[in-house]
Amino acid sequence: MGGLYRFGISIDGRLIERFDAAIERQGYTNRSEAIRDLIRDFLVREEWEANEEIVGTITIVYDHHVREISSRLTELQHTEADLILSNLHVHLDHDNCLEVIAVRGRASKVQSLADAVIGARGVKHGKLAATTTGKKLT
Ligand code: NI
Repeated sequence: MGGLYRFGISIDGRLIERFDAAIERQGYTNRSEAIRDLIRDFLVREEWEANEEIVGTITIVYDHHVREISSRLTELQHTEADLILSNLHVHLDHDNCLEVIAVRGRASKVQSLADAVIGARGVKHGKLAATTTGKKLT
């Protein structure tokens, strides 16, 4: 599909207010421009070749009071121990923990691990930041 395509999005009012404030701070003049950049970022991540090696970090903030969250996160990391280089845990405050997991490995496997970690119940926010090493894994 070529040309310009317009579409509508249903979104929570508070979420769009925060988004608008954030894109203004970053110097965007309109929402469309910011959303185009988000889509491009998303596609770049999606296009990492499955057999490419990537290195990076999975960063999460979670509430350690949520039932079984700590053991779930530990279990995930033990299962994929070959992808994990290091792990930093910070007890932020009474409720929240920050965890930064340094990872290296096949893009498809690192992405799956990140999805599982970020998607774990109790994780409030999470992000995989990674770059390719340019190495193809067989
Ligand atoms: Ni903690």
